[in-house]
Amino acid sequence: MEEDRIISAQELKDDRAWDLTLRPQSLDDYIGQKQVKTNLDVVLQAAKQRKEALDHVLLFGPPGLGKTTLAHIISKEMGAGIKVTSGPAISKAGDLAAIITNLQDGDILFIDEIHRLNKTIEEILYPAMEDFALDIVLGKGPSAQILRLDLPKFTLIGATTRYNLISSPLRDRFGVTFRLDFYNDDEIAKIVKRSADILTVPIAQEASHEIASRSRATPRIANRILKRVRDYAQVKHDGNISHDITRKALDMMAVDKYGLDDLDRRLLKALVENFAGGPVGIGTLAAAVQEEAGTIEEIFEPYLMQLGFLARTSKGRIATDKTYEYLGLEKNKDSKLF
Ligand SMILES: Nc1ncnc2c1ncn2[C@@H]1O[C@H](COP(=O)(O)OP(=O)(O)O)[C@@H](O)[C@H]1O
Ligand SMILES: [Mg+2]
Repeated sequence: MEEDRIISAQELKDDRAWDLTLRPQSLDDYIGQKQVKTNLDVVLQAAKQRKEALDHVLLFGPPGLGKTTLAHIISKEMGAGIKVTSGPAISKAGDLAAIITNLQDGDILFIDEIHRLNKTIEEILYPAMEDFALDIVLGKGPSAQILRLDLPKFTLIGATTRYNLISSPLRDRFGVTFRLDFYNDDEIAKIVKRSADILTVPIAQEASHEIASRSRATPRIANRILKRVRDYAQVKHDGNISHDITRKALDMMAVDKYGLDDLDRRLLKALVENFAGGPVGIGTLAAAVQEEAGTIEEIFEPYLMQLGFLARTSKGRIATDKTYEYLGLEKNKDSKLF
């Protein structure tokens, strides 16, 4: 279902090819996230001056905000090689050992979705991150021996959408942690303009702002919408992305002025209509809309919470005054709203 969603923050099949052209290549090209950039720049300069490998970096934040992009930029800025893998892709200890032993000094190992690493693999990472050593167990039972291998001084960059799923021993082994936040409309408009320039398609200023306001504060979604609007402008107009054309294209995609679509509305409606505005547990809410709890937590909730259309309490999810206002529904006086 996420596959059909124009406003999914998750990477969809079509996004990959575009990423190669649209992805910023340097820190200067990377728009927004000012605080992260400032801090990262200091860390990068310091490591370069000392001619040392960069400290291990943990990047977290909702999907589509630029974690993978940042990992590649870091490798470029450090002039280091990068090996890309992901939590679910490493299933055996040998997989990880093979990857790490093939790295060079200073290289970057990027592990996406690092919260999905299994426990055994995670435990191999601890000495690798801390002492640049790999412990290999030879044999079984009482006669087993541990062989310690020296590893190159690599930098691990971990990315995750679910910070709270990362165990604290793993968290503690990262020297720097950066949290990526949703972008403001001006920043997204700049990203849209930059992408339009790369695609050499003329775009009106109001049009990039219109796209920005409906992109859930997320660069990946903004770029995807831009591509769709470009198609529309080409087929229905003269190829120029005017404000009017943008609005028509977006209305056709059923994305409203908040960047929400039917799936978001279905979730909010279920919360209000089936559960009287909550509090309702995430599992129960997920079952009501036939989605996985994890998808709701990762994809739907962050932006709905950012808008103030949904809140988390210790007892579960609740609707807010804004939820009712948005849905055009009256708040039931008997419902237990906080
Ligand atoms: N700060 C930024 N400036 C410009 N474009 C960005 C920025 N962050 C992300 N993008 C664009 O959004 C797309 C998705 O970013 P990505 O790094 O894949 O997100 P994540 O890994 O967090 O899911 C990238 O391909 C890039 O084109
Ligand atoms: Mg990514």
